[in-house]
Amino acid sequence: MKEIIFSDKFVKFNSKNTILIVKNFVKKDECYKIIDKFHAYKKKKVKKVTRIIPGKSKDWHSTDNLNSVSALYKRRRVRNNFTANLWSKRSFGEKKYLIKMEKELSKIYGLKKRNIWNVNDLYFIQGYVCHYPRGGGYIGPHSDVTFNVRNMTAIMLLSEKGKDYYSGGLKVKLNKKYINLDDHMEAGDVVVFNNTKRHKVDCIDPNIKKISFKSPKGRWMMITTVQRNYNIDPRRYSVTNQY
Ligand SMILES: [Fe+2]
Repeated sequence: MKEIIFSDKFVKFNSKNTILIVKNFVKKDECYKIIDKFHAYKKKKVKKVTRIIPGKSKDWHSTDNLNSVSALYKRRRVRNNFTANLWSKRSFGEKKYLIKMEKELSKIYGLKKRNIWNVNDLYFIQGYVCHYPRGGGYIGPHSDVTFNVRNMTAIMLLSEKGKDYYSGGLKVKLNKKYINLDDHMEAGDVVVFNNTKRHKVDCIDPNIKKISFKSPKGRWMMITTVQRNYNIDPRRYSVTNQY
């Protein structure tokens, strides 16, 4: 079995040691429009929260992890994160791309809808837009354990290595070695992998001395994954290697 499958659509694969890259899922100019919108949104005074609260009325809120070690996840990271509340009926343009990814994943993995949208369940689907700035945006190595609800994560790259940043990026560990996925992707491509496999985002352009959240350059992604409902069960699900 090949480690990376390239495809023009979502296809099911059963090996934990396989990664799927779906090419051209969304057009590049649409990706850059999303970046512009979220970059502008960053400048506003957005309410910052440290945990996801089901039933919130806003569609997106900022879980702002600038240079912090999250007490909840015990995971080191430097990034700017926006969380979508997919259950909300209010529409906020970019949510449609998350829903598009989620539909494809649900189709190939046959996930019951009941587990997706009901915020009163132990698990529900969450979406994020995330900026790893040049000058050191990163997340440390970890694996996400979702207790067999669905361990597949889909990540769409919104920006491009070699254009918006030059080194670092998403790495997933397969067969004892890390594979750098950003090297195989362009803006608008989606990667699907089993998130119980160790993964990390290596420092984005660490040679740049000053980290800049003010610049829209760097690595942007949109991600859909299964979220544990901490209001029902506060046990943490992430297993982390600290640096
Ligand atoms: Fe993760």
